[in-house]
Amino acid sequence: MIEKVAEVILKSRHLIALTGAGISAESGIPTFRGPKGLWKRYRPEDLATPEAFARNPKLVWEWYAWRINLVLNAKPNPAHYALAELEKMNLLKMLITQNVDDLHERAGSKKIVHLHGEILKVVCTRCEYEARLNAPPKEIPPKCPVCQALLRPGVVWFGEPIPPAALSLAFSEAEMADVILVVGTSGVVMPAGQIPYIVKSHGDIVIEINIQESAITPIADFFIKGRAGEILPRIVDEIKRKIGCF
Ligand code: APR
Repeated sequence: MIEKVAEVILKSRHLIALTGAGISAESGIPTFRGPKGLWKRYRPEDLATPEAFARNPKLVWEWYAWRINLVLNAKPNPAHYALAELEKMNLLKMLITQNVDDLHERAGSKKIVHLHGEILKVVCTRCEYEARLNAPPKEIPPKCPVCQALLRPGVVWFGEPIPPAALSLAFSEAEMADVILVVGTSGVVMPAGQIPYIVKSHGDIVIEINIQESAITPIADFFIKGRAGEILPRIVDEIKRKIGCF
């Protein structure tokens, strides 16, 4: 299967990838819906919604400060590096991620669409101020240095729209793709979960890597059961072998 998938990727005209929390799981960042998933310990409604933030900004920020710390102390894993390598080989044309961490960037990927925003970004709830964090905020909840209003994490909360530019770029990439590599997502959250279905709808190829079946598996032409950190590097090695890199 790895050999066949490597061949499909090598022959692709416009390969894209869709990643979810599973690709960062091996970096120590908990997924959302797995057995020890983040949502198991907290109800999304209590934390990741505009209403929760309005009701209790301190609680929401305590949770995000904890997750920011996790991200800052995490390292990209071999799966992140493998996707960055596919981009460097000019095979991967776009990486669409639901993840708000910066591990794809830190692994060297450049062409990235963050559908759900970025946890290291903070934006003012009133003025245009925004900034990138390189440490958790000193005060909780943090205030805007320009207008003193509350700052909020630069992520998309449940019930909020996906940033239009990110959404249209992701969808146009899905229209152009002849192969999509879906890695570490349960595929249950929309509109991200629609992206593999768009590729499938124009008769193109869906490759899925996951430790278990997901909402995408029914349309996957190839389903490779396994850890992204193990499978993706093997696919890249097989591609290199085929092009005689070693
Ligand atoms: N390798 C590959 N897949 C893995 C691994 C791994 N090492 N570990 C876990 N997985 C898979 C799980 O089997 C699951 O299918 O990753 C997926 C994680 O699913 P979720 O926790 O639902 O995460 P995700 O699909 O990214 O959630 C989408 O939901 O809560 C919102 O905004 C949040 O972006 C998130 C969105």
